[in-house]
Amino acid sequence: MHYSDYWLADTKSLLKHAMHDGYAIPAFNFYNMESLQAILNAAQITQSPVILAVSESALEYMSGEILMGMIRGAQYKRGQIALHLDHGHSFEICKYATDLGFSSVMFDGSALPLDKNISESRRVADYVHKFNVSLETELGVLAGTEDKNTTAKKHLFTDPDLVKDFVKQTKTDSLAVAIGTTHGAYKRKSSNESLRFDILEQIAKNIPGVPLVLHGASSIPQKYVNQINKFGGNIKNARGISPAQIRRAISMHIAKVNIDSDSRFAFTAAIRKTLYTKPEIFDPRIYLSTATEEMTKNCIDEIQNIMGSGYKF
Ligand code: G3H
Ligand code: 13P
Ligand code: ZN
Repeated sequence: MHYSDYWLADTKSLLKHAMHDGYAIPAFNFYNMESLQAILNAAQITQSPVILAVSESALEYMSGEILMGMIRGAQYKRGQIALHLDHGHSFEICKYATDLGFSSVMFDGSALPLDKNISESRRVADYVHKFNVSLETELGVLAGTEDKNTTAKKHLFTDPDLVKDFVKQTKTDSLAVAIGTTHGAYKRKSSNESLRFDILEQIAKNIPGVPLVLHGASSIPQKYVNQINKFGGNIKNARGISPAQIRRAISMHIAKVNIDSDSRFAFTAAIRKTLYTKPEIFDPRIYLSTATEEMTKNCIDEIQNIMGSGYKF
């Protein structure tokens, strides 16, 4: 099936529009029916375009068939929602997602030598573009856990001198940049540590027409960390990127902002509180509904206060 059969949006058009208007499309990761519903509820309430992001491990967890069954049954306006493969590490997984009906794929060759990153990215571009599926690639490396298969130990900031040629050779539609964000919950030693806006500025100058992508952009709301710890959890030193820094990045051509950890925190905080305060409960629909509600609230908050994408659809 093709993504247009599901009324899904062309990711490239969403990103171009966002970049020109100075806002960002949120890419929220999901893994199950509840997290999918939370994102769609938030998109509907805020009238925001949204990218549904599925990592390789989430795709494996849900299976392609169940995932596309949920997409088929979901309610959204034509062209408001894109479905995106997050951190695809091979041509084969990118092809699989394209053939399933995804609107865009990320080929993440950031751990490969540059020439291999370029040749594999181009190979994916040549396949996906035949279906008007858009391609995101990555140059530079984010520290932190990307998924169960990839754990980068250190940052390798994107080199602004390489981006123009990289984009030309790969034919990528958008570029993920490494400017100091990391995946996961432990992003910062102190809250005033700054992203490398100097690097971002140079990149945007060198490829002015290319929408840029910020991975590892969760702000890790402390209210969720506190709630998790209050109700039996044990999470120490979790710290995200401040919303002010993300907003600044959005004003500098970041058109897609990836959020996963914040949703995990909202989801888990709600479940912990419900189970702790209502110990008689054992119906998963009750505690999972509170998780959906809390994740919806957090997605709405980020759309309204960080992305600026509300009322754009
Ligand atoms: O950036 C990667 C996402 O946070 C996906 O993580 O592989 O655990 O689903 P995951
Ligand atoms: P966070 O871990 O900051 O939510 O990053 C998510 C991400 O980049 C998904 O690709
Ligand atoms: Zn990522």
